[in-house]
Amino acid sequence: MTRRKLVAGNWKMNGLKRNLGEVRAIAAAAARCPSVDVALCVPFTLIADAAAAAPDLVIGGQDCHAEDSGPHTGCIAAPMLVEAGARTVIVGHSERRADQFETSQDAWAKAAAAHRHGLNVILCCGETEAEHDAGRAERVVQAQIEKSVPDDAAPDWFTLSYEPRWAIGTGRTPSVESIAAMHAIARAKLKQLVGAEAARGIRILYGGSMTGKNAASILAAPDVDGGLIGGASLTAEKFVPIIEAAVEVSK
Ligand code: PGA
Repeated sequence: MTRRKLVAGNWKMNGLKRNLGEVRAIAAAAARCPSVDVALCVPFTLIADAAAAAPDLVIGGQDCHAEDSGPHTGCIAAPMLVEAGARTVIVGHSERRADQFETSQDAWAKAAAAHRHGLNVILCCGETEAEHDAGRAERVVQAQIEKSVPDDAAPDWFTLSYEPRWAIGTGRTPSVESIAAMHAIARAKLKQLVGAEAARGIRILYGGSMTGKNAASILAAPDVDGGLIGGASLTAEKFVPIIEAAVEVSK
């Protein structure tokens, strides 16, 4: 089974209406690259405007609540994302695990809620620097996957993203070999959880300081089916070379 590459941007807490020109430019580049999938996860406040500015680009949110509505001040529910024009959502990002104390169980419930409402899901996992240094990365990632991936995860709506926390926003990346090794471990764990066929089709992205310079080598590695890109997704100038690298390695 060939897995199409997915290049997903995560704008995190960046982006105002004045940045919609970047959304349009990224959408134009995505339209020129039909052999790969492109998505852009923007702040909640920008979803409707981004979806209107770039109707053919997959716009996403960066989190959603596990419940559909209720007394949860400041939270956003999956149906709200859908109504705003989102088609995908990131859950379990390491910044939310660290800053909002989210657990793998939370990510599981959020992924299930998103799926209930027809959103695609990008679920993140990844070890901290301390866990990496202690040689525990493999076990940590396996446990996160075990606790957070829904049993019915399937390629048509579910994507996993491996993001070593120490590589996010730091300019440091693991070697291509160790990225490939962790992706193989993640896929083996997926196989146990969702079965061989689904595990073969589910895309596993790499995230953490991916740029136009390192994208081609990372994206060409076995079991790496795309990237989740933070800093380098904020402008078309930096993001488009990553999309183009995905096109090149897909040939
Ligand atoms: P980065 O972020 O590309 O800025 O390292 C990646 C991510 O957190 O998704």
